[in-house]
Amino acid sequence: MKIAVLKETAANEQRVAATPETVKKLLGLGASVAIESGAGAGARISDNDYVAAGATIASRSDVIGGAQMVLGVQGPAVADLPGITAGTIVAAILAPFNDRAKIESYAGAGLIGYAMEFMPRTTRAQSMDVLSSQSNLAGYKAVIDGAEAYGRAFPMMMTAAGTISAARLFVMGVGVAGLQAIATGRRLGALVSATDVRSATREQIESLGAKAIFVEKVAGIEGEGAGGYATEMSDEYKAAQAELVSSHIAKQDLVITTALIPGRPAPRLITDAQLASMRPGSVVVDLAVDSGGNVEGAVAGQIVERHGVKIIGHSNPASRMAPDASALYSRNLFNMINAFWDKEAKAAVWPADDDIVKGIKLTEGGKIVHERLLG
Ligand code: NAI
Repeated sequence: MKIAVLKETAANEQRVAATPETVKKLLGLGASVAIESGAGAGARISDNDYVAAGATIASRSDVIGGAQMVLGVQGPAVADLPGITAGTIVAAILAPFNDRAKIESYAGAGLIGYAMEFMPRTTRAQSMDVLSSQSNLAGYKAVIDGAEAYGRAFPMMMTAAGTISAARLFVMGVGVAGLQAIATGRRLGALVSATDVRSATREQIESLGAKAIFVEKVAGIEGEGAGGYATEMSDEYKAAQAELVSSHIAKQDLVITTALIPGRPAPRLITDAQLASMRPGSVVVDLAVDSGGNVEGAVAGQIVERHGVKIIGHSNPASRMAPDASALYSRNLFNMINAFWDKEAKAAVWPADDDIVKGIKLTEGGKIVHERLLG
């Protein structure tokens, strides 16, 4: 089975879908791996590094020619897949809710599209979960970016010249990114607090040594829907949350927002009036900016200032740590291929009724087949 790895074409994408480590592992299974020249540059991997691991380096069309599976980070447009033939699997972050037309064109070309971000949140699929691996790094990087922009110390420092007080960091949205942001903020010595709509996160926040800030005594407080994801909250809950957060936010030096609701725009968590209540010099990092943003005024790909508060809206935050993000992402892909590898056939075999295959497969046989995209 030939596996093709593409150079990413999106402007803000530095990651790559295979590393020398995963190339060796794929060859160990019995696959061959062809890598588009320059694919690893953004992740500091040279063509020679890939060759040393046993891959071949070629042009895009030569890499794709004869491949049964194409690996990418962001899903390539069909027009960027020269020579691809019907029946080829394309595994990448396909973002079907942002770009339905692309998924329709995959179906039109007869491709089998695997959306890696649709990986089920199950124990079996944990090692293939790209949302977790990338969010984890994004949560870490958000704190580092925030600390840099804040320009003051995180820990309390007692010096001969007097004491500097600890930074106050508030994390809104305690999924994978938020938990890592809490842990990173604590390691740097900040006073950390956090909130979420899912009440199950209270214990997780406290176990990391942070203070849980929660709306109490409001109907429909649970906030947890299918697969452990958040649901859209009631108007009563939103009003109570806004009031609680308003008084808390005014005392914070840094706020990191990570709140997402699958398939919907990110919920608005911070208004302009709340930003105005913060001390000038404070910093807000909006990790949801690519999904519409949690913070009023946040701009994807930019750092803007409102009322003296810096709002950091880096697009694609995981790509800002491309070597590590690529290492984890490519291991997620390898773990998936390995789980379906048939030693006799020396190829991956994807049973249609398997949970993982059903979870990620968007298109096949000329049609969109995923239940979340139908109807
Ligand atoms: P996500 O990226 O979809 O959302 C981030 C966080 O924002 C979530 O915790 C969500 O509850 C929160 N949020 C949404 N609306 C909010 C609002 N209005 N105010 C405050 N917070 C809000 O979440 P992620 O990181 O993808 O995790 C989703 C779920 O998946 C969690 O339950 C997590 O524990 C679970 N998970 C399970 C795994 C497994 O079993 N293999 C692996 C990774 C995550």
